[in-house]
Amino acid sequence: MEWVTVSQLGQYEGQEVELRGWVHNYRSSGKIQFIIFRDGTGICQAVVFIKDVPLDVFEAGKKLTQESSLIIRGAVRKDDRAPGGFEIGVKELEIVQIAAEYPITPKEHGTEFLMDNRHLWIRSARQAAILRIRNEITMAMHTFLQDRGFVLTEPPILMGTSAEGGANLFETKYVNDEPAFLSQSGQLYVEATAMALGKVYSFGPTFRAEKSKTRRHLIEFWMVEPEIAYYTHEDNMKLQEEFVSYIVQRVLERRADDLKTIGRDTTWLEKVQPPFPRITYTEAVELLQKIHKPEDEWQPIPWGEDFGAPHETAITQQFEKPVFVEKFPTKIKAFYMEPDPTNPDVVLGADLLAPEGYGEIIGGSQRMHDPEKLQLKFEEEKLDPEMYGWYMDLRRFGTVPHSGFGIGVERTVAWICGLDHVRETIPFARLLNRLRP
Ligand code: 4AD
Ligand code: MG
Repeated sequence: MEWVTVSQLGQYEGQEVELRGWVHNYRSSGKIQFIIFRDGTGICQAVVFIKDVPLDVFEAGKKLTQESSLIIRGAVRKDDRAPGGFEIGVKELEIVQIAAEYPITPKEHGTEFLMDNRHLWIRSARQAAILRIRNEITMAMHTFLQDRGFVLTEPPILMGTSAEGGANLFETKYVNDEPAFLSQSGQLYVEATAMALGKVYSFGPTFRAEKSKTRRHLIEFWMVEPEIAYYTHEDNMKLQEEFVSYIVQRVLERRADDLKTIGRDTTWLEKVQPPFPRITYTEAVELLQKIHKPEDEWQPIPWGEDFGAPHETAITQQFEKPVFVEKFPTKIKAFYMEPDPTNPDVVLGADLLAPEGYGEIIGGSQRMHDPEKLQLKFEEEKLDPEMYGWYMDLRRFGTVPHSGFGIGVERTVAWICGLDHVRETIPFARLLNRLRP
């Protein structure tokens, strides 16, 4: 008999198959047992009827507990009332293990309890669906970039210098006792590989020792950083809107069942198509002043200050699609951003804010490529030219305008899944006060 998965049952209607998995839920009533069966690809109902199986099998079935592991064999029947839409008329049942009393029951549990049991919580239908959507998003990111000729180049995780400033840097000790830092961004390295290969991207873990507890921040998160030689700020934004639209549309197409499982209303996601609206930072500051109401929990900001999460939320609520906020003040952005030639107080960079209140999912910019300007910037920001010498070399040997961006995988998953916290977007979240499991 063929071993198939729950997700494949549609192709086996009327045939006998073998399924290997776990008991998601179980109930028995005298002559009949109902096993809600899961195998990681979905759930189906398995019915054990006393007349269809040997008596010892029926008796063994009675011992099943939640999360017991088992192999079943039987005929596939379509049943619209059954969870998952298919039912197995069980003929053979092989118990692999009767599970000990399972801590997560269908009743309500608090978030901390569930996070303490994250290694088990991921078995729930909702959490498994989110992880499958995460996988779809990851694969969509790779496919989009690979189809356009981008080369995946991995920057180091252990770094000798900081990439995004010192504030939330993770320090450790290198093998020779030199100070070393966990990567906050691979950008400086993809700038180098872009000069070697043209269009590149990195896909890797990123570490930021964020001391604040928010629903958008992880200590360890995954970032995709495309970097393109000869791209301008304009080219960069165009690439981003096509990239994000592709990801969203592919998830809608391929993971409709999972989106349904988690109860995601997809009305807004369907609108995610290029072009995305664009406003400048200055316009955003004015917009916030205009829409602010006395009862709001946030205050408008003066020009020159950075947005907080509530400001981003308020801005996105004014738009149906993701919105670019471009040309931030030079003072509040990273050293590598190219100033706007028409107004050097602002940079040729943009944040992409996701709708429905989600806020920043992408940070990107055109990079400063002029060696003299960059030298001045280094002096201004007191960056050690010794440490960044190799980065300066990129400007000495055939420098060209270039641009790139970083998209946070978890924030993208949170938005597409409609989750209110990033902790459910990654198998094992690293948060303030949470390093286990
Ligand atoms: O805006 P950020 O800091 O940009 C950079 O690191 C650039 N070097 C990227 C580049 O141009 N190559 O971070 C980029 C994105 C954010 O928009 C956000 O989605 C995500 O990374 N991010 C986080 N996600 C989860 N937890 C955190 N603590 C995050 N910090 C940033
Ligand atoms: Mg940013």
